[in-house]
Amino acid sequence: MASKRALIGIGGGIAAYKVCEVMSHLAKAGIEVRAILTQAAQAFITPLTATTLCRHPAYTDQDFWQPSHTRPLHIELGEWADLILLAPLTAHTLAKLTHGLADDLLTNTILASTCPVLLAPAMNTTMWQQMTVQRNWQQLRQDDRYHRIGPAAGMLACDTVGTGRMVEPLHLISYLTSLLHTGGRRDLAAKRILISAGGTREYLDPVRFIGNPATGKMGLALAEAAWHRGAKVTLVHGPIAEPVLAEIEQVAVERSQQMQAALLTAFPQADWLIMAAAVADVKPASFSAVKLAKHELPESLPLEPVPDILAELGSLKQPHQRLVGFAAQTGDILPPARQKLIAKHLDAIAANPIDQPESGFGSSLNQGVFLDRQGRQRSIPTCSKLEMAHALLDFVSELECSDSNREQ
Ligand code: CTP
Repeated sequence: MASKRALIGIGGGIAAYKVCEVMSHLAKAGIEVRAILTQAAQAFITPLTATTLCRHPAYTDQDFWQPSHTRPLHIELGEWADLILLAPLTAHTLAKLTHGLADDLLTNTILASTCPVLLAPAMNTTMWQQMTVQRNWQQLRQDDRYHRIGPAAGMLACDTVGTGRMVEPLHLISYLTSLLHTGGRRDLAAKRILISAGGTREYLDPVRFIGNPATGKMGLALAEAAWHRGAKVTLVHGPIAEPVLAEIEQVAVERSQQMQAALLTAFPQADWLIMAAAVADVKPASFSAVKLAKHELPESLPLEPVPDILAELGSLKQPHQRLVGFAAQTGDILPPARQKLIAKHLDAIAANPIDQPESGFGSSLNQGVFLDRQGRQRSIPTCSKLEMAHALLDFVSELECSDSNREQ
């Protein structure tokens, strides 16, 4: 990512303060960041704020009209950018984009560029719901270079509760990272991808359970990465630490039995299933609906096996479907992963070490080795879980491609 260049176009809305976090994160990740502030944006944050966070002077319309540049500034910036974020996108800038209007540095730069543009609108709910605004928003969908995220629902700064909040910075950062990885291609647009995430909880009584330290980060990264690449995503997840975007269909569960039911229901419609959840292997043999007092707790706990969901789905798999498992291992990760790939009738498996620093449960980083049923093997060095997710989606796409070449 170090050689990548992101241009951040900041619009006139209170959510401009959240864009500061995006600029700061990208710059710290080694990405070159430049910012353009519209006239209205400067009522909310200053060019000095953006300059400091980007480590580069921020641009305003004053620079646009300066005669000192050798080449016009909008052409320079438009050619420079690998991607552009417009956030917060106002109703006015949205209308200008829709109609190809260019009357300031930001809109001229958009027209002078060809890179992917991520749009993150924010406005009052009534403004958002206007037919004209909705028509403009839908019309931009027809232009492949525009990627759209949000707005989310919630409490707005105008004290309205409704749709109109800009999505959180972490979701913008994750989408931008995906765009830098893919160059904006929507290679999974025709796919329906079912993903499981997080751990399950097998209860003894309402307050005690057998669980594991899974936080769902890997499954969430997979869901976001697949959605960024155009897939229709369903995420079945146990208790997880982070919010899920409204654009991703989600089914929240707790016990393995609920996860099994949700996956069995969704599986027939899925093209791919990626099973990143850490499902318990056993559950207490009995469950008390009321909390057990300390003195009522058994001295030893009889256990029962939990059904192997992935193996069950492996037996139901149709020829067009692809099944991908995870094997969280300690020690030598490859032999058990290979064995699970075969035993569960998987197309691919991601083996990841949970006894190494910077990987596994709760970490935002991961590493591992991907294996497939054709014998391919790919090592993934330590990287963010989003990057690992893209690498796995690439690996499965390549497998599918090679399957269809073989059939021809
Ligand atoms: N899995 C599942 N249902 C279970 C247990 C595991 O669907 N009851 C899935 C996991 O989501 C993962 C894969 O099977 O994708 C491998 O899980 P893992 O826990 O590594 O392997 P197990 O088959 O449970 O074997 P072991 O615990 O003995 O290593």
